[in-house]
Amino acid sequence: MPAARITRLTESDWEQFAELRLRALTDTFGTDDRQYLVEARFTPTDWRRRLRDHAQFVAVLGDRPVGMVAAYQESAEAAYVYSLWLEPEARGRGLARLLVSAAVDWGRRRGVRTATLRMAPDNAAARAVYESLGFTEVPTGGAKSEVVMRLTIP
Ligand SMILES: CC(C)(COP(=O)(O)OP(=O)(O)OC[C@H]1O[C@@H](n2cnc3c(N)ncnc32)[C@H](O)[C@@H]1OP(=O)(O)O)[C@@H](O)C(=O)NCCC(=O)NCCS
Repeated sequence: MPAARITRLTESDWEQFAELRLRALTDTFGTDDRQYLVEARFTPTDWRRRLRDHAQFVAVLGDRPVGMVAAYQESAEAAYVYSLWLEPEARGRGLARLLVSAAVDWGRRRGVRTATLRMAPDNAAARAVYESLGFTEVPTGGAKSEVVMRLTIP
């Protein structure tokens, strides 16, 4: 297996980003999914804007992008982390943890105090990744179709 690295994409990487993001949406939700159908129609300008507005990190094995996570700053104090995904063949190598760590480090450098994310309650692999980094469930009360997890950034 080649060495893994985590890198942040810039606007000029928009084609690589578009390919990976659409692959992630297809793998996770399928091509009938509403979000997939919206993003499948993105123009180069849309992809570039997403890369400008949000921090996009990818995991690269050799020279192949195999996974991603995104983050944006919600407020002076808070970052939001979303869209963690690894292609099935790249799972089980700890790359998800490296990706989320990169997003948290990004927030830390921007001076935010918390990182928040949402996940399906039965997503054991994602929960293991987040809890190993110190994220804990935020009590929301009531029925839970999704769980909010938060990390106070040390
Ligand atoms: C969630 C996901 C990103 C994890 O990727 P990953 O890097 O392959 O994670 P790993 O397989 O290395 O697992 C990380 C931890 O979860 C544990 N784990 C993996 N699968 C598990 C499962 N089904 N049940 C419980 N724990 C599990 C591993 O043992 C590991 O913990 P350890 O390092 O202490 O042993 C990946 O499964 C994925 O892309 N899933 C589809 C998209 C998704 O669900 N994204 C999250 C949205 S919130």
